[in-house]
Amino acid sequence: MATTEGFILSNKKSWDEVAPRFFGRTALPSYGPFAPDEDKLNLLGDISGAKVLEIGCGSGHSLQYMASRGAEELWGLDLSDIQIATAKTLLEPYMAILKQLFQSPMEQDPGLPRSYFEIVYSIYAIGWTVDLPTTLQNVYGYLKPGGIFVFSWEHPLHNRIKFEGDSFVVKKSYHEEGLHQCEAWNDRTAIVNQLKLSNYINELVRTGFQIERVVEDVYVPENAEIGNPSRWYSSEKAELIPATFIIKCVKPKK
Ligand SMILES: C[S@@+](CC[C@H](N)C(=O)[O-])C[C@H]1O[C@@H](n2cnc3c(N)ncnc32)[C@H](O)[C@@H]1O
Repeated sequence: MATTEGFILSNKKSWDEVAPRFFGRTALPSYGPFAPDEDKLNLLGDISGAKVLEIGCGSGHSLQYMASRGAEELWGLDLSDIQIATAKTLLEPYMAILKQLFQSPMEQDPGLPRSYFEIVYSIYAIGWTVDLPTTLQNVYGYLKPGGIFVFSWEHPLHNRIKFEGDSFVVKKSYHEEGLHQCEAWNDRTAIVNQLKLSNYINELVRTGFQIERVVEDVYVPENAEIGNPSRWYSSEKAELIPATFIIKCVKPKK
């Protein structure tokens, strides 16, 4: 079924199968592999009293972090039933502030309040959208004027370059964009959206966002594994190109 609905359904099936492998793996304060974390970047600012929504909330570990930083309301949305069930269990201690976790694709609005959130964020999930313009329009609608949207995803250069023999080589054109099977998921269907960084930026601007910061900085921890440059994420590769990018933008007050 090569329709966007078909891709969402096959991605859901795959995520329900693999979810346990990812519980808590890409969660705040981390923005993703070899990226500086929230403690260093302070992109979210003062969270206390904020109503927050996570797009692609996975197992709920980032929402747990938001609770620990004093968020007033926790909301989440994720495609996978297994992720949502896990997040509900993880967030049981925060029942008083946990509002709703929706099993839903980010391409659809499951009934979230409009002009409501001070912070909408997404950690390594946005590249799964099969429809970036609609997803960004949804996010824009959920935010209060003055509210922020912060998201991270794999840097679009990262899967273009591979270690072969004794060096890194460009294997695919940076200019090639669109929905494709994610190579790192060679064992099951995983349709992700390959987009250039400029495409994310231009689409945010078209939606009405003001971009505050684009982060391509790399942080390689002292204890990072070395000597295995052909791994999907390796410190050797990160020394050359970013594994992750992060964008912070604002819904203007008008
Ligand atoms: C790498 S995980 C994010 C983990 C999350 N940051 C955490 O703290 O656990 C990516 C998530 O995106 C979700 N996802 C994939 N496609 C989606 C879609 N179209 N709409 C909503 N969520 C989606 C997956 O189910 C998965 O939980």
